[in-house]
Amino acid sequence: MIINQKTGTRVDEVAAGIYRICTPLDVMPGGFTFNSYLIADDEPLLFHTGYRKLFSITLEAINKVMPVEKLRWIGGSHFESDEYGALNNLMEAAPDATPFGTEIGVLTSLNDFAAQPARGFKDGEEFAIGSRRMKWLYTPHVPHGWDCGILFDLSTKTLLCGDLFTQPGANMPPVTESEVLTASEGMRGMMDYYAHATSTAIILERLAGLRPSTLACQHGSAYRGDGAALLRELADTLARGNGEPPAAIA
Ligand SMILES: [Fe+2]
Ligand SMILES: [Fe+2]
Repeated sequence: MIINQKTGTRVDEVAAGIYRICTPLDVMPGGFTFNSYLIADDEPLLFHTGYRKLFSITLEAINKVMPVEKLRWIGGSHFESDEYGALNNLMEAAPDATPFGTEIGVLTSLNDFAAQPARGFKDGEEFAIGSRRMKWLYTPHVPHGWDCGILFDLSTKTLLCGDLFTQPGANMPPVTESEVLTASEGMRGMMDYYAHATSTAIILERLAGLRPSTLACQHGSAYRGDGAALLRELADTLARGNGEPPAAIA
């Protein structure tokens, strides 16, 4: 549901206890969405802080679900402003929260940027946030950033997949059962946000092996369905390549 008519920010439960906080911004023709995911449990977790300039609206959205000071974990996939920009503002609002990311991200950026020491998770590391277990996977350069990692909620089989399957546009449903690869390939055609790393296929196959039933994308709709099949289709598409430079540098 829309919680702020002015910004168009909405909060929707896309899997059991997992809330997508979505704010559209006019940063490209047709618009673009920025999502944070709030996971309700004994130790509530926020994945992606959103831009620093969106802090007040993200705060408003979190408080619609639970008092912000209950947050115990605040993290993101890789170090960019849409993933971590509002981290310190949120830490002030939720002083008992621990910032987290991948080990490399903590080393290169987080422990300098964050007002409090950050927790760096190892590849494959699991941790409990109450009734559910989370698993961290190190996914360097997939789709970009050598600090890139992805979080998996083992109880709902939700893959918090960051910038994978990024879809352009502003008016999309919070969750869709229609494939999102065509839209994200359209985005990749406009802006090639992939690092073209040699390990991409191996990493995507690893993610497919988790058999996610929800792909919680940071930009666009969350996808509900056969996540493994869509990840393998993405790997095949990337392996084939399109042979064309992205429009932005053509
Ligand atoms: Fe990114
Ligand atoms: Fe992003």
